[in-house]
Amino acid sequence: MHADSWALKAKKLGFRSRAVFKLEEILTKTKTVKKNSLVLDIGSAPGGWSELIKALIPSSKVYAIDLLPMNPIKGVMFFQEDIANIDEIEKIFLLKSKFDLVISDLAPNLTGIRAVDEENIFELNITTLKTAVNYLSKSNGAFIIKTFQNSLLKKLRTEMEKSFHLVQTYKPAASKSKSAEIYLYGERPL
Ligand SMILES: C[S@@+](CC[C@H](N)C(=O)[O-])C[C@H]1O[C@@H](n2cnc3c(N)ncnc32)[C@H](O)[C@@H]1O
Repeated sequence: MHADSWALKAKKLGFRSRAVFKLEEILTKTKTVKKNSLVLDIGSAPGGWSELIKALIPSSKVYAIDLLPMNPIKGVMFFQEDIANIDEIEKIFLLKSKFDLVISDLAPNLTGIRAVDEENIFELNITTLKTAVNYLSKSNGAFIIKTFQNSLLKKLRTEMEKSFHLVQTYKPAASKSKSAEIYLYGERPL
C-alpha cells in the first residue's frame, strides 16, 4: 500500500497517526496482545499507539509519557515528562517490574549532522532499553522499540540481546521502504 493510503486508512478508522499499523503488524506477528495488559507507551504523542492498544485490548491499562502534550484518551494515563525522568513519576514508579508491554516510538530532534544524530538516537534508545528492563515483568514482559538503520544499529541489537531472552527485528509494511526506521522486539527481560 502507498504511504498516503496508510494515512487515509488511519483517518478513516479514527486513529491519530498512521504509525498504528506498524505497531499492529508487530503485535500480531509476535502474538503480544494479551488480556488485561499493563502497557507503558514511551514517546506517545499524538497518541496513535495508545489508541491502538486500547482498541485491541479494551481491558488494558495504559501509561503514556511524552515531552509534548497529548489530548486525553479514555483509559490512558498520560504524563508530560522526559523519559530520562520516568522514575520521578510516582504512579509509574510504583509499577516497576509489573508491565507486560513497553512500546517506544521515540525519536530525538535531528541536527542534520549524521554522527551527532546517530549518537543521540543510540543514547535515547539505550535510556529506553534500560527503562523497559526496569519496568517490565521478568516472566512475560515484551518490548517494542523504533530505531533507525545506521552505524550503531548493530551495537543496539547487541545490547538488546544482553537484556532479553529473544530479540527480533521488524520492518513493517506500513513503514516507508525509503525510511531508515526499523523496529526491535525483545521478549522476557534477562
Ligand atoms: C513519532 S512520535 C510518536 C508517535 C506516537 N507513537 C503515535 O502513534 O502517535 C515521537 C515522540 O517522541 C517524543 N520524544 C522525543 N524525545 C523524548 C524524550 N526524551 N522523552 C519523552 N518523549 C520524547 C516526541 O515528543 C514525539 O512526540
